[in-house]
Amino acid sequence: MAFADAVLIAVPYRAYPELGQAYGGLLKGKIVLDAGNATKARDGDLAAEAESAGIGATSAKYLPGARLVRAFNAASYRLFAQNAHRSGPAMAIPIAGDDKQALDVAAALVRDAGFEPVVVGGLDAARQFQMGASNYGRDATAPEARKAFGLTQ
Ligand SMILES: NC(=O)c1ccc[n+]([C@@H]2O[C@H](COP(=O)([O-])OP(=O)(O)OC[C@H]3O[C@@H](n4cnc5c(N)ncnc54)[C@H](OP(=O)(O)O)[C@@H]3O)[C@@H](O)[C@H]2O)c1
Repeated sequence: MAFADAVLIAVPYRAYPELGQAYGGLLKGKIVLDAGNATKARDGDLAAEAESAGIGATSAKYLPGARLVRAFNAASYRLFAQNAHRSGPAMAIPIAGDDKQALDVAAALVRDAGFEPVVVGGLDAARQFQMGASNYGRDATAPEARKAFGLTQ
């Protein structure tokens, strides 16, 4: 983690507090693609916290100082596996973050992985594609996703 320019976190959300304590120092100032989702059955009270505060704010609370971009969390891994580098219009991956440079790096990584990034907004906008939101679980192209999120460009 120390040598990486960017880190993707994909662990059960209940581990975030422990993750922050153990690796928070290393993650400070680091671009972090945050793929975690919180579910009540697995993550207990953290799911309620994410629901009320927003998943972006909740991740930022447990990983303070990380340059967070919510990414790769709006669908099942099965959809990602089926659609990476597909022919025709790419599958859209909604992303959200407050740090413009981190968003640019995340967008490039999303493209490298065979998808089309759609920047939905700042970290708070990640609510729009957190688990349970209407934009969760879609296999959409970028134009379809932009329309669904009400984005003009
Ligand atoms: N699965 C999906 O389709 C999907 C889609 C979008 C987002 N997500 C989100 O991505 C995250 C990971 O999902 P997953 O399905 O990949 O879960 P998972 O298979 O249960 O866990 C992924 C990895 O997390 C590590 N891990 C578990 N507990 C940990 C802890 N306390 N501290 C550090 N690492 C720990 C495990 O590493 P070890 O094997 O070394 O223990 C495991 O390899 C979740 O937040 C999930 O909501 C999942």
